[in-house]
Amino acid sequence: MLEIAHISKDFGGLKALKEITFHVKEKQIYGLIGPNGAGKTTLFNLITGFLPATHGSIQFLGNELTGLKAHKIAKLGIARTFQNIRLFGTMTVKENILVAQNIRARSGVTSLVQFFSSKERELQEKADDLLKRMGLWEKRKEQSLSLAYGEQRRLEIARALALEPRLLLLDEPAAGMNEAETEDLLGRISEIRNTGKAVFLIEHDMNVVMGICDYISVLNFGELIAEGTPDEIQASEAVIEAYLGREEE
Ligand SMILES: Nc1ncnc2c1ncn2[C@@H]1O[C@H](COP(=O)(O)OP(=O)(O)OP(=O)(O)O)[C@@H](O)[C@H]1O
Ligand SMILES: [Mg+2]
Repeated sequence: MLEIAHISKDFGGLKALKEITFHVKEKQIYGLIGPNGAGKTTLFNLITGFLPATHGSIQFLGNELTGLKAHKIAKLGIARTFQNIRLFGTMTVKENILVAQNIRARSGVTSLVQFFSSKERELQEKADDLLKRMGLWEKRKEQSLSLAYGEQRRLEIARALALEPRLLLLDEPAAGMNEAETEDLLGRISEIRNTGKAVFLIEHDMNVVMGICDYISVLNFGELIAEGTPDEIQASEAVIEAYLGREEE
């Protein structure tokens, strides 16, 4: 469904991504790993239209994404979360979801009046359902900023899901979570996939990556150095070397 072909990104003289090619399939949980600065978030920024690619093509369900604005790409069915959480902090938990739903609903509705009368109830119910699925329903009236860190990460995922994406991009969803929260998150990500969505995630926590990913790509200094199943990646000399090499720095 997502076909990344010969993608490169230069920042001045720095080659953040070099000729990257791989595919994410429908309903897959696909992992992207690699040491700090490998180019992982940059790839997400290219897919979602936050940054233009220097070279190459990214196709999603047959649509070329390079050159499209971020909101157009979102409308095609790609939603993301951020490595540094970006919530509307002063809004309540539920309001964060409703705002995202409004962004999505506006395109298909003729008037605001119609929107509020016929859609309001449905959206409220959907928001409640999403909050329950991400374990946040009890917190729905609290200010987002007051949530614990792990809860904020789950709210960001819920908000991304409110856009009803076919493909969900998660940039380090378990960062800052303790072991129990991480375990809980794994179950929720699997459930998201069970609803028919593909999940493409960047993660440093190897328990997460190896525990739920069907397939994994490994970046190092902007290059794709390995691709395979969790077992193949764990046995890869190139991957072990990339991680150990960095630790000695
Ligand atoms: N907007 C930008 N302008 C200039 N350089 C950038 C920009 N974004 C990223 N870079 C550089 O590109 C390289 C890749 O960064 P990126 O954030 O993609 O790495 P990452 O794999 O996500 O790392 P981490 O695991 O630390 O999040 C780094 O050297 C970074 O400094
Ligand atoms: Mg990153």
